[in-house]
Amino acid sequence: MATASDLTELQQRRALGPLVTKAVIPAAGLGTRFLPATKATPKEMLPVVDKPAIQYVVEEAVSAGLDDILVITGRNKRSLEDHFDRAWELEAALEAKGDTHRLARIRKSQVLADMYYVRQGDPRGLGHAVLCAANHIGSNPFAVLLGDDLIDERDPLLGRMIDVQRHTQASVVALMEVPPEQVHLYGCAAVEPTGQHDVVRVTGMVEKPDVGEAPSNLAVIGRYVLHWRVFDFLRETEPGRGGEIQLTDALQGLAQQHRTPGGGVYGVVFRGRRYDTGDRLDYLKAVVQLACERADLGPDMRTWLRGYVADMT
Ligand code: G1P
Repeated sequence: MATASDLTELQQRRALGPLVTKAVIPAAGLGTRFLPATKATPKEMLPVVDKPAIQYVVEEAVSAGLDDILVITGRNKRSLEDHFDRAWELEAALEAKGDTHRLARIRKSQVLADMYYVRQGDPRGLGHAVLCAANHIGSNPFAVLLGDDLIDERDPLLGRMIDVQRHTQASVVALMEVPPEQVHLYGCAAVEPTGQHDVVRVTGMVEKPDVGEAPSNLAVIGRYVLHWRVFDFLRETEPGRGGEIQLTDALQGLAQQHRTPGGGVYGVVFRGRRYDTGDRLDYLKAVVQLACERADLGPDMRTWLRGYVADMT
């Protein structure tokens, strides 16, 4: 039974506005950097050790308390829906063999959250993908998780961002310091301090600035907790960098309106472990790093890797 202090906490949270319960995962990209592997398989289904990349992202959202997940898909993405659905024949075969361990592992992907799918028929950029979620989200705050960035589960980020969104009623992006020569690969933020060591106020945002034009070396990594007003800005956003409708450009508009309800952008500065699976080399590094850290595979993997590296030098 709820105690009086639980109730006060609940009343306070309600007064802050609706809870964040929904997540959006854009997954309509063609994955051209991984061809031919991604000719008939979505890039989100490529395994990172023994789980598809997208399952890490869904698990991260669920750990942060989000139980309604909308995946923005496109053509050739059916296996992605199948992965989060029941696989009766497989379950029956594993059950007949008495393989309870594997049975539990495949069942886990089916009960994570309520999964919804909408197709982005005409891929016009990340901003356009997020706009495809507008009807599903309605007037609620929501998280956006990009599948190319995996955040180590030991270094929580999304929960902290949700907390900041609740208290500011604005939009929140995850920021990470990157070497200046890498800023052109990311959305980049101009910021000012807030007095909290891990939170800054974003005063401006630029998508993939040219070297020398970046307002800082704080890069947007693929986690956002957004106020629904972002949809108003996305509807008005013209194609930007690369001819695509950029989420960064809509957030720049929100950042300029920090004095109006639902306006403003804050950044949570992340200093934990992040694995990039967006291009082939980073993907390979992520697989090796995560395999080395696994309790079951790690010891053997590390021993082998040490020997392999020693032989190379
Ligand atoms: C997207 C965003 C960019 C962000 C990046 C994070 O770019 O447009 O602002 O910094 O994700 O991974 P993409 O990597 O999809 O080109």
